Amino acid sequence: MRIDIITVLPELIKSPLEHSIIKRAKEKGLVEIVIHNLRDYASDKYKTVDDYAFGGEAGMVMKIEPIVKVIEFLSSQRDYDEIIYTSPDGKPFSQSTANSLSLLKNIIILCGHYKGIDQRIRENIISMEISIGDYVLSGGELAAAVISDAIVRLIPGVISDETSALSDSFQDGLLAPPVYTRPAEFRNWKVPDVLLSGNAAEIDKWRMEQSLERTRKLRPGLIDDDN
Ligand code: ADE
Repeated sequence: MRIDIITVLPELIKSPLEHSIIKRAKEKGLVEIVIHNLRDYASDKYKTVDDYAFGGEAGMVMKIEPIVKVIEFLSSQRDYDEIIYTSPDGKPFSQSTANSLSLLKNIIILCGHYKGIDQRIRENIISMEISIGDYVLSGGELAAAVISDAIVRLIPGVISDETSALSDSFQDGLLAPPVYTRPAEFRNWKVPDVLLSGNAAEIDKWRMEQSLERTRKLRPGLIDDDN
């Protein structure tokens, strides 16, 4: 999979995508992440990427031309399955969206900034708008990092024990059960007996019960929403 990220702050997005699982996925050749500085596509000597909003609205708006230029350049190199724009008014990001995106070959993520991008880009070029939550970030870079991280770990082969990604919270619409490691007892805090029993069927049953119980208690909407 290839992810092209377009931003006015390349340094902000670089580091979160250079460690841990994403780093290994890149090394294994399972994902290529290319970051593009939008300013490189500005045509004037000041590298202008924003301008005043028509109609007197406060704040700056990202200009059409540099965005069209970079997206047309990328699209001339390969076909893109989705051109995503990060914005607080996009579709709420979810594990199921991450699952679908992880199966694609090439995607572009355009990071929003300032007051946003000229509406004509949203109407004519963007195929999907994603919000990572009902709050406003200073820019779309952290959202793009979150989206990329959630997608990359799901690409087949990225996590060697694939069942590990499959048993994540939300993967089956439920929160994950609690986990424990050694020692089996610490200051009288004990690991549940069933996990030490070696009885795989009982352990699976316990995990499912815990998942359901935690989801009902902490995120009842996840269960109700399915009904
Ligand atoms: N840009 C600013 N806030 C955002 C959010 N909540 N999700 C995605 N992009 C954003």
